[in-house]
Amino acid sequence: MPPQREPSPSSSDVVDPDSFRNRFAWHPEPELIGIRSAELNRRALEDAGARIWEAALDYVFEHGIERATGEPIGYRDMRSLYYGDALGPGAAPSDPTPLADLLDEFRTRLAPHMLNPWHPRQFSYFTPPPLVASIAGETVAQWLNQGIDVWNCGPVGAFVEEEVVRWLSDLVGYPAERFGQRDGPFGVLTSGGVMANFMALTLARDVHLRRVRGLDRPPRGASLEGVRVYVSDQAHFSIARGLSELGFPDDTLAILPSDDRFRLTAPTVAEAVEHDRRAGLVPLAIAAVAGSTNTGSVDDVPGLAEVARAEHLWLHVDAAYGAAARISPRLSGRVPGLELADSVTVDPHKWLFQAYDIGALVVRRRTDLLDTFHRSPEYYRGGDVQDPDATHEPLNFYRYGMEGSRRLRALKLWLSWKHLGSSGLARLVETTWDVAAHLARSCRGADDFEILPAEPELSVVCLRHLPGGRSPARALPPGALDRHQDWLATALEASGDGWLSTTTLRGETWLRAGNVNYLATESDVDRLLETLRRLAAKRAVKAG
Ligand SMILES: Cc1ncc(COP(=O)(O)O)c(C=O)c1O
Repeated sequence: MPPQREPSPSSSDVVDPDSFRNRFAWHPEPELIGIRSAELNRRALEDAGARIWEAALDYVFEHGIERATGEPIGYRDMRSLYYGDALGPGAAPSDPTPLADLLDEFRTRLAPHMLNPWHPRQFSYFTPPPLVASIAGETVAQWLNQGIDVWNCGPVGAFVEEEVVRWLSDLVGYPAERFGQRDGPFGVLTSGGVMANFMALTLARDVHLRRVRGLDRPPRGASLEGVRVYVSDQAHFSIARGLSELGFPDDTLAILPSDDRFRLTAPTVAEAVEHDRRAGLVPLAIAAVAGSTNTGSVDDVPGLAEVARAEHLWLHVDAAYGAAARISPRLSGRVPGLELADSVTVDPHKWLFQAYDIGALVVRRRTDLLDTFHRSPEYYRGGDVQDPDATHEPLNFYRYGMEGSRRLRALKLWLSWKHLGSSGLARLVETTWDVAAHLARSCRGADDFEILPAEPELSVVCLRHLPGGRSPARALPPGALDRHQDWLATALEASGDGWLSTTTLRGETWLRAGNVNYLATESDVDRLLETLRRLAAKRAVKAG
């Protein structure tokens, strides 16, 4: 039996309100710092809340939906506008400033100069307009300030994370009935895809390589040599970085060519594995991507899973962006086979429209996380294992990942998922896909645009403007078409009328629309193309 709680006086009874307030009288707004009772603080906090909310909405409606990015756009100009002549940060403020003054400063100095996710022609890397329920979750989570590392520092918060991890595990397609069992699926929220990929590679090293090499401890040093991890030329940079940080030599990463649709195929990997085995190397893992950053391409995961099974390789799928397509019955077939992977990266802050930051690593076997991140510090008392059945052990998330102190990241996704339902989230995903498909169709049907690949898999579309049309553009000197795309991206940014990134595909520069913007419509896409044409015409006139 736990010890009974003794009745305690309300915390506001213990001290005299005036003397408590006086402890903070050095500040112009003592009631926003010394929080003790509803009587003392509630009114001031409600006023502050209204002012903060108003400042945020002023940003959304005066800037966010007006321009895709604020002015000026140049790095040096922005620096000098922000910092003034010093061009760099000064010392920290030593004296207090009232919140209203700071909100005014936010309004004038910061709000006009953002990259605006609320703009209907914002097609940035993968930054969505965050759902209102997600913003609500962020806001409330900051008030709660739970530590989701050791169970008793965020008791129900750990369950909220467990719950959304279950939903993400279902999205991946892992068996729902086995979720949370020791050898069943589980996962952990992360800051994003980079951290999730890093942790997945840590599992591949400490669980799988150890097994492959028959070691009695996690492999280090010389045991990391002669190993191969297979990726395509479209893999996210975090895979290479992760392997390097984990101590693997540079040649561990075997970068294989993607096919004409930018996909890694099973025969390509099977051939490389066979070749490497003959050379005495140790094939360890395939790190596939389902929804690549560049083009949204989806590797042949079912085929790669076959190779992984036959060759006894770890299969990680980086579905940071693409996993969300599985929420839509109409689109889920475009991202098949995630459930066949040992580990999967899913980033709700991409195509599930969450406020930054929230990523996730979902794994097929909960024990893989526990076996990898098992070291416990003595001060985490809630870390004692009390029961061999993981469902009865206190849920100490620090045992499942890299981090110690962790915030209640799950709340925003929990609220959003309940607010929209899976069906609502699916509608928004489908909307973005439909708008991207319209963009692809419009480019294919025009003489002055081209796209690559011709049939985008998900909601990323890579396009090029062809000045004068297809034939004249082909006749341009080498590099001219590439420079034209870079120029257009900058001109579009300066116009404020839309935003596209650029990327390199097969050595050429392409404009890239990463559409996770559920506020964009087909007319926005039409207008975007018109704006690009108009800007390009201006350039032609200038060039004479
Ligand atoms: C496929 C893929 N994986 C991983 C990442 C990294 O995610 P994050 O930047 O959220 O850490 C990205 C980011 O765009 C991505 O597109």
